[in-house]
Amino acid sequence: MTHKPIRKAVFPVAGLGTRFLPATKAIPKEMLPVVDRPLIQYAVDEAREAGIEQMIFVTGRGKSAIEDHFDIAFELERTMAERGKSLAVLEPTRLGPGNCAYVRQQEPMGLGHAIWCARDIVGDEPFAIFLPDEFMHGSPGCMAQMVKAYNEVGGNLISVLEVPRDKVSSYGVIDPGERAGALTEVKGLVEKPSVADAPSNLIISGRYILQPEVMRTLENQEKGAGGEIQLTDAMARMIGNQAFHAVTFDGNRYDCGSKVGYIEANLAVALEREDMADEVRSIARAMLE
Ligand code: UTP
Repeated sequence: MTHKPIRKAVFPVAGLGTRFLPATKAIPKEMLPVVDRPLIQYAVDEAREAGIEQMIFVTGRGKSAIEDHFDIAFELERTMAERGKSLAVLEPTRLGPGNCAYVRQQEPMGLGHAIWCARDIVGDEPFAIFLPDEFMHGSPGCMAQMVKAYNEVGGNLISVLEVPRDKVSSYGVIDPGERAGALTEVKGLVEKPSVADAPSNLIISGRYILQPEVMRTLENQEKGAGGEIQLTDAMARMIGNQAFHAVTFDGNRYDCGSKVGYIEANLAVALEREDMADEVRSIARAMLE
């Protein structure tokens, strides 16, 4: 059976990023760089690698740097060209009008509400969601792995990873069913459960492939944990009506919404970069001694 292709991705970037203040007072969290690329650029590159053509950003006040980042920077490019500098480094930052759309979430009412704000642009087709502060580092990328799984099983998919049991209360957690390789059937989902009530230690990790029906479910979704409209709650209501699987990502995930995760991501990428790995390794070694 063939499944409708995943052509569109939604990037909810309207959150306030309070855990990163004061850095995120005037700059969106998604523009924080890991080495020399902003988080949002990694997420867009991951989407492109998975064959996704249209990027839909759900933005809010103070997020215009994201639009500028994916636009043409005329003065910069002309000056660089005049000075004989290569523009190749800017190539991935170009998203033409056919490849991107911006929609505004006027109040940060939660991730579920942010996704719902994109309903008209998503239309009646399955789509991907990327939380750009979850930095998924691997080859092939996380979404490419998920699209491969989607082509086999269809329906809805979320990426998951294992965390120590005492950490589950900060995340969406799955109630796992049967496992086959990287695929796990999802029997239930809970957002931010207490450690005692958590059905497993498998947490949702920032990548989703969802059927368009989720938009109708979100339409009448009540507020959940933290007084926000939770995507997890809406997905939980779809289980039973539609296929739902979790994909365990073969790669590393860094939680760049948290300070320690962000430092870890920078170190991990720097230590893989030919142009700086040796230097960074010796600096780190000297500091630790
Ligand atoms: P987070 O839970 O990380 O919240 O949102 P946040 O506001 O970005 O950061 P903190 O916790 O205050 O530091 C997860 C994702 O959902 C988006 C965020 O932009 C992030 O990508 N989001 C969240 C929205 O787009 N709108 C919302 O109302 C809430």
